Amino acid sequence: MNERFLLAIESSCDDTSVAVVGDKGTILANLVANQDFDHQPYAGVVPEIASRAHIRVIESVFGQALLKAGLRLSDMHAIAVTYGPGLVGSLLVGLNFAKGLSMASSLPLVAVNHIRGHVRACFLENPGIEYPALALIASGGHSHLFLVHDVRQTSLLVKTRDDAIGEAFDKLSKMLGLGFPGGPAVDRLAQQGDSTSFPFSQPKLSDGSFDFSFSGFKTAALRHIEKDPESFCHLHTRQNLCASFQDAVVTHLLDRVSRALRQHSVKSFLLGGGVACNSTLRSKAQHLADENNLPYFVSAPALCTDNAAMIGAEGWIQLEQGAHASLELSPAIRAKPYQSYLPLT
Ligand code: KG4
Ligand code: ZN
Repeated sequence: MNERFLLAIESSCDDTSVAVVGDKGTILANLVANQDFDHQPYAGVVPEIASRAHIRVIESVFGQALLKAGLRLSDMHAIAVTYGPGLVGSLLVGLNFAKGLSMASSLPLVAVNHIRGHVRACFLENPGIEYPALALIASGGHSHLFLVHDVRQTSLLVKTRDDAIGEAFDKLSKMLGLGFPGGPAVDRLAQQGDSTSFPFSQPKLSDGSFDFSFSGFKTAALRHIEKDPESFCHLHTRQNLCASFQDAVVTHLLDRVSRALRQHSVKSFLLGGGVACNSTLRSKAQHLADENNLPYFVSAPALCTDNAAMIGAEGWIQLEQGAHASLELSPAIRAKPYQSYLPLT
């Protein structure tokens, strides 16, 4: 049978992305227009600016995606779109655009949860991943550890109690004047630094829970800078702080992963979300998986950061389960990607 294709649209935060994805996982196009330039002066995503920027570019990203795929809208089988979680104004742009296309073309609409898309991204390059899987999704807005039982059922094991990990990277970058988005800039400096230069203690939550918590790392970084601000004029001091911070937050993430591996028996370990581009996280996660003899899957960086191909991949799963969305669909800024919560003990 010939491969069928769907059009996928992602606009939940500050990336406008349109992809054409086949039911066998072929990606014919996956275009992303990022807004880094628009948010740069504020060193963080400004929601109003984000939604206006989506409006400006979505039509042309859509046109270019079809051009790249060499297909027309009428060649599509359905339209998949992110309905949440995310910024309400940003979500509305993609959602309304998708609804308009669906009305004009009579193609069915499929609503996709953005975080389920990040988990599914790992399967695009590795369709044979075995369940149950442990999935660490670390991004600018979310930090979750999931137990993915099968294609439908997901349990949340760990959530963050304060900042998302990507936010912590972005804030350190802002303190050091490294620009936005902060993660790649911190990572670049960290690779030249000594991770033992600055002490960072690991969080211990007073209620004994094993949630993630990143705000303490940010405060500790600020204290290090305030103690001797002049020393941060030197590149090597900035490199050392970035390396120490990066090592500490990755240790925190992987501590929860190790704990989860002791409590749950899984057949694979997946890493996704924008922070999965981080060099220390990628290599230490590999090391942890090797120690546990566990197959480890992390996508190419372009599939880790926000993109519509991952929305298309998850869209196919939803479609195969018969989940069509109505044209009444509204954004769900806190849409849950899991069915149950099984906190670590
Ligand atoms: O998944 P994503 O594109 O958007 C959200 O769903 O939030 O993730 C964006 C986040 C930003 O906070 C960015 O700083 C971070 O991913 N990031 C990184 C790296 N590349 C992107 N963080 C650390 N190291 C990196 N190399
Ligand atoms: Zn994301």
